Amino acid sequence: NPSLRALAERAGVRIGTAVDMAALADDRTYRRTTAREFNSVTAENVMKWESVEPQRGVYDWKPADDLVRYAHAHGQVVRGHTLVWHSQLPGWLTTGVADGSIDATELRGILRNHITTEVKRYKGRIQQWDVVNEVFEEDGSLRNSIWLQQLGPSYIADAFRWAHAADPKAKLFLNDYNVEGVNAKSTAYYELVKELKAVGVPVQGFGIQGHLAIQYGFPGQVAENLARFEALGMQTAFTEVDVRMILPVDEEKSATQASYFRRLLDACLGARSCKSFTVWGYTDKYSWVPGVFEGQGAATPMDEEYGRKPAYGELREGLAAG
Ligand code: G3I
Repeated sequence: NPSLRALAERAGVRIGTAVDMAALADDRTYRRTTAREFNSVTAENVMKWESVEPQRGVYDWKPADDLVRYAHAHGQVVRGHTLVWHSQLPGWLTTGVADGSIDATELRGILRNHITTEVKRYKGRIQQWDVVNEVFEEDGSLRNSIWLQQLGPSYIADAFRWAHAADPKAKLFLNDYNVEGVNAKSTAYYELVKELKAVGVPVQGFGIQGHLAIQYGFPGQVAENLARFEALGMQTAFTEVDVRMILPVDEEKSATQASYFRRLLDACLGARSCKSFTVWGYTDKYSWVPGVFEGQGAATPMDEEYGRKPAYGELREGLAAG
């Protein structure tokens, strides 16, 4: 039985997963399965700012370096996640901004330094970077983060320019959730991309996270959404796919989940711009979902014992057909 990875390689696409570095260190089955099933990996947490610079000027690259080395050893590409986000910022940074000891001018320099340092460290080893993550609200207005408050909307263009200068070959992505289909939020990204491109900002990709929940149904107009970004010359990617449900699992929910995974995969395979499809963890053993959504879970293609669910089968069939 061919792995997802073998089928993806035949189809000329990347099948990826988020990687939990604690699990990679402790769990042999996790290590083996990650290598066998995937040809792309994303750090679930260890490339985020709070992880790489826990104290100002004190860096901890060890877990991120470990992932990049693991990927190289197993012939996998790496998606870098993520440079600019409102969440998982180091305490020294949020505190400094809140108490006024870091002003806007200094903050801009700190951001520039963060992007430059991290992107340069992995220069040539990251295929796609999520440069800015989750910058819009559901209604399409810019998210009210310390970046917007202190630096104004130009922080987005600056981030892409700084990342590009640090690694001109990495593909630079916007990334968000609830942007699978055509809606106010994805349309805000579409307009932003047009504006950025019009003034020559180096932005090459639109990352669609793909955190779905079966109780909310499947998003509409996914193919149309991919097509409009493709028409702007953008690459697209599904970057964090999982499909949660209200527990307990039953056969019907499991079948619905499988069809949602398949429909997102088919949307990717049906678009020339989409060559990368990443799940946000592949075993329920390490999924972030139950910790955040009480009473929900079972969101990944394998159960806690690495048993393959119908969703795994649909991914396999989709890749085999693609
Ligand atoms: O590292 C500490 C550890 O030292 C401590 O013992 C433990 C106790 O709670 O917490 C650990 O940190 C946790 C971290 O994951 C690593 O496990 C944080 O509390 C927890 O908040 C953090 O959650 C991550 C979340 O982002 C943070 O917002 C999830 O694992 C991760 O899956 C999730 O990923 C995000 C993407 O980056 C962006 N898109 C949405 C996606 C899901 O929320």
